[in-house]
Amino acid sequence: MAVAALPIYEPLNEYKALAPDIGIVDGPLEYLRTAGVTLPLPFSTRMTVVKLKNGDLFLHSPIAFDPSLAEQLQAMGTIRHLVSPNQFHYAHIGEWARAFPDAITWASPHVRQRARARGIDVQFKRDLGAAPDDWRDEIDQTIVPGGYFGEFVFFHKQSRTLILTDTVINLELDRIGQPWRFAAWLTGMHYPNGGIFFGMRLPLVLQKRKTTAAVNKMLSWEPERIILSHGRCFESGGSAVLRRLFAWVL
Ligand SMILES: [Fe+2]
Repeated sequence: MAVAALPIYEPLNEYKALAPDIGIVDGPLEYLRTAGVTLPLPFSTRMTVVKLKNGDLFLHSPIAFDPSLAEQLQAMGTIRHLVSPNQFHYAHIGEWARAFPDAITWASPHVRQRARARGIDVQFKRDLGAAPDDWRDEIDQTIVPGGYFGEFVFFHKQSRTLILTDTVINLELDRIGQPWRFAAWLTGMHYPNGGIFFGMRLPLVLQKRKTTAAVNKMLSWEPERIILSHGRCFESGGSAVLRRLFAWVL
């Protein structure tokens, strides 16, 4: 199948500041793999970087290791926290950890088993849970119960930025190729309104009480900006975006 893999979100591998002490780095396209076979289905990758007051960097969903990117980040602070928010965003943590052995690798639920099953070389030192002392004063977190797709979400207080991974997807239809374009259109996971990730919808309904608690927690943060791992981020009005997308649980 021919896929138009448009070079979206360039420049790649460069830190893009969104507000003081927080920014994103868009990475190269990657391809879905299943049963050891690479499929012609590219998706874009994005990492979020938060600089903590003590100079430590919090890297959320690290993209493929790149030496010049690593140098750029080192000039900003100490590469300390390598965070896997869900069991699908972890594949490059091992590469960063080998380059920065003092960094702390943070596991999401089930990620160790998934990495082992897929032969990905990564050792996780600590498990995500309640926000740890390492960043609690500056970043809060909670878990969105998406079953298999459940993920930890984070809130950077100073910039009022909510950091999501796959919970909400906002693909720009004119910037992606088929079959994603059709799938994103069909499921509503596209710009400008975005949509809850298709695979999470049933688990969220089945765990409505936990979902409502997670949404209320996110709303209590009163987010302004929302960073997404896939598609265009929401620059403002974050609370309204959450209220609209999760209206069915509120
Ligand atoms: Fe993802």
